[in-house]
Amino acid sequence: MENHILNIIYLLASVLFVIGLKMLSHPETARKGNLWAAMGMFMAIVGTIVLHHHTSLEPIKIILIIGGIVIGTIIGAVAARKVKMTKMPEMVSLFNGMGGACAGLISLIEFSHLEEAPVPPTMKTIFTIISGLIIGSVSFSGSMIAFAKLNGTLSKSVRVPSYNLINNIWLLGIAAFAAFIVFSGTTDIKYVYLVFAMALIYGVMFVVPIGGADMPVVISLLNSFTGVAAAFGGFLYHNQVMLTGGILVGSAGTLLTIVMCKAMNRPLFNVIFGAFGESGTITGASGTMSGSIKDISISDLAVLMNYSKKVIIVPGYGLAVAQAQHVIHELENLLEERGVEVKYAIHPVAGRMPGHMNVLLAESNVDYSKLIEMEEINPEFPTTDVVLVVGANDVVNPAAHNDPTSPIYGMPILDVENAHHIIVNKRSMNAGYAGIENELFYNPKTSMLFGDAKVALTKLVAELKTM
Ligand code: TAP
Repeated sequence: MENHILNIIYLLASVLFVIGLKMLSHPETARKGNLWAAMGMFMAIVGTIVLHHHTSLEPIKIILIIGGIVIGTIIGAVAARKVKMTKMPEMVSLFNGMGGACAGLISLIEFSHLEEAPVPPTMKTIFTIISGLIIGSVSFSGSMIAFAKLNGTLSKSVRVPSYNLINNIWLLGIAAFAAFIVFSGTTDIKYVYLVFAMALIYGVMFVVPIGGADMPVVISLLNSFTGVAAAFGGFLYHNQVMLTGGILVGSAGTLLTIVMCKAMNRPLFNVIFGAFGESGTITGASGTMSGSIKDISISDLAVLMNYSKKVIIVPGYGLAVAQAQHVIHELENLLEERGVEVKYAIHPVAGRMPGHMNVLLAESNVDYSKLIEMEEINPEFPTTDVVLVVGANDVVNPAAHNDPTSPIYGMPILDVENAHHIIVNKRSMNAGYAGIENELFYNPKTSMLFGDAKVALTKLVAELKTM
């Protein structure tokens, strides 16, 4: 009976995961979606503790489980509340690493139980344990390196000669050892420790050479690894909710990786093996572009915007760095009060994580209906008086259309050059993520508003208020 109730709880929890995930796809429903999925996880955990038929646990184990849940909950809640939006990828990589470590440790412990099992383990059981161990361990150590790269502890990507070949040979070595364990049916834990160590080292070798700025894509990929490792745990324990959760995370991570690569027009291969934006030969400050740069004063810009009919704001990574989301909303309100139509143009990979701009602008309560996706807003630029680019660079770089030699050639961009006036706010002529110059800054229609986005926009708002 208890088992039936537990299965129903697992089914409900799985449904909540799916509904939650679906709701996460729109900013308006994302918060609730997160809560629904968390509720599913809560039900699954409590149901397992209370109703699982092996729950004849000694008190010390119950204390350990509850202690682990309390400590994890406190750390998770405090970290999630305190984390800055720009540090979100770091937190995701850390938490993802913990998931991978869990899957790896579960496999290690379950393997150590095989020796005492009354019947020899089947090949399927050993395969499941070893797969969870390898994938979880790679995900753990890879995520830790990604975390270190994102927080600046590891600043450069390290590429030993022929690293690619070495990595592949290492991976083959892991596969060979794993195959030996599975096919020989050995329950000797030393082999498993060896595979565990090799997988941890592979995670490091896999992520260390990848460009620091490509970490969001790598984290999404590692996220899918953790999901698959958890799904193997679900197979092992015949636990439906662990299986469904793992598969959902695995497939969502894979899809997100594909979507990010598509939006950057870069194959995953290039992310993993190409040092994007790290070659010293192309930089935005190198001054290889011809043409002149003109800047605009705050008062001239205030006049221009005040007398415009339509303004489109293009937010980018710099808006997040400057934490200028509140002042930009204030600017939008001021302009709208004066009868100017204001919209935001959202590029799918603006910023450094999926949905970065949506989340940032939602923080300052910008109306979701004003956030317009790239395909929808692009035809509107020719009828726009002023486009204000704030801390965005690559996502408005016309080289994506015009320069077949550019690393971003083919990446869909926001066609801001079609607007009547282009204002670009950034601190200097430095390049963005891709490390390349931007011919948009030299366009005769473009005027630069140099300075930190928050400082510059605050001055602009103050100026507009005097008009
Ligand atoms: P970027 O091309 O990185 O440009 C950001 C610009 O912001 C920089 O040129 C910088 O110029 C400026 N900036 C920095 N701090 C600023 C501040 N305090 N005030 C004003 N400006 C500031 O950003 P983007 O246009 O948003 O493009 C995103 C890039 O990230 C794309 O290449 C994309 O492929 C990549 N990427 C995105 C993701 C996701 S999922 N979003 C994942 C991986 C990679 P200054 O230094 O001169 O100020």
